[in-house]
Amino acid sequence: SRIYREGLFGRRPVVPVAPRALEEAARRKLSARAWAYLAGGAGQQRTDVANRAAFDEAPIVPRMLVDVSTRDLSVELFGRRLPAPVLLAPIGALELAHPRADVELAEGVRELGLPVVISSQGSTPMEDTAAALGDCPRWFQLYWSSNDDLVESFVRRAEAIGSDALVVTLDTHTLGWRTMDLDLGSLPFTRAEGLAQYISDPVFRQLVEDRVAHPLVPPEPTPRPTRAALAAALSMARHWPGPVRSNLRSPLPRAAVETFLEVFSRPSLTWSDLGRLRDRTRLPILLKGIQAAEDAVRAVEIGVDGIVVSNHGGRQVDGAIASLHALPPIVERAAGRVPVLFDSGIRSGSDIYKALALGADAVLVGRPWVHGLALQGGAGARAVLEHLLAELDLTMALSGVRTVDEIRERGLGRRRP
Ligand code: FNR
Repeated sequence: SRIYREGLFGRRPVVPVAPRALEEAARRKLSARAWAYLAGGAGQQRTDVANRAAFDEAPIVPRMLVDVSTRDLSVELFGRRLPAPVLLAPIGALELAHPRADVELAEGVRELGLPVVISSQGSTPMEDTAAALGDCPRWFQLYWSSNDDLVESFVRRAEAIGSDALVVTLDTHTLGWRTMDLDLGSLPFTRAEGLAQYISDPVFRQLVEDRVAHPLVPPEPTPRPTRAALAAALSMARHWPGPVRSNLRSPLPRAAVETFLEVFSRPSLTWSDLGRLRDRTRLPILLKGIQAAEDAVRAVEIGVDGIVVSNHGGRQVDGAIASLHALPPIVERAAGRVPVLFDSGIRSGSDIYKALALGADAVLVGRPWVHGLALQGGAGARAVLEHLLAELDLTMALSGVRTVDEIRERGLGRRRP
């Protein structure tokens, strides 16, 4: 309500409130290359579009004459009370949005107390991000590496920084068909963007050093480093003192990118591997990227602690089911057994309301706060989240519900035929 009052009394918001205007402002500010990676969906962007369109179908049916003078947005998740059922989705390569990347974000949003899901593809070492978060809750998102020692190391580090949960992302063992990036010939990772988690890891560094010492093929003579190699070296120099800093022609940057491409994921991962993770950590484990009810059932059966219904913001399979359409059948089979979280397509507080009404226990928000970060740094990201929470609160009040449980009990009206 503070935000609303300030708006009414002529104070301009830090970043645009209207979702389209926010997106448009970020697009104007960012380079074509950064925009392609941050905003782009897979293929013809059909799933990205469908994710948002799905929110238009089922209506909220507001009820009148309910005492809504006090509302409570808080929820409990994995033993912790959260101020609202909203988390910051893990987003990699944030240096494309802001030079201080994850640390800038963390400093900006920590006072909100919403859990920040730190990405495997983070742009600052998770220890730095965690320090910047102070007391704010953090979770860690894991891409399951093909190298077991690296998985182990990431899990240990995630525990050491006080993560409340581990989110294993399943839908990106291989990068999707990102047409906008492909047309620009610019995938971030080839310039070591989004590699800080790896480069700051002792297991990973050893793999790179072994590779340089024992190259599979003799290194090509490269009298002048390519622009991409220089950019990679500069980006690495922050986290890898010594050889890289002192010699930008060092073979390390290239070896690091090659090593990353090798160990980034394990496309052969199957259900039977998950038990090994269970043995390695006592943190709650959530599976992110679940879209089929059958997979949700399987996840519950093998004993995971939560599910994130997600299609990665439409960035992986073009033509995949809209995430909001995937939610109800999963809720039907899994809700009450484990928490069901939701993401992909949320752009407003009203969208959050709808996902909760369809049974999500909490939602993750992705691109909107990235746009805020690009426009006004940490304060911009914070403003975006405040706008979402303020609209959620207002939507609850005007719809005649006081709590998140009441949103769920109320549900939505009938879908448009
Ligand atoms: C992502 N996402 C993602 N997910 C993940 O598990 N690890 C990651 O490193 C990333 N990186 C990433 C980068 C960028 C630029 C985007 C846009 C997305 C997916 C993310 O966590 C989330 O699922 C989607 O962003 C949700 O969709 P919306 O809210 O962006 O529509």
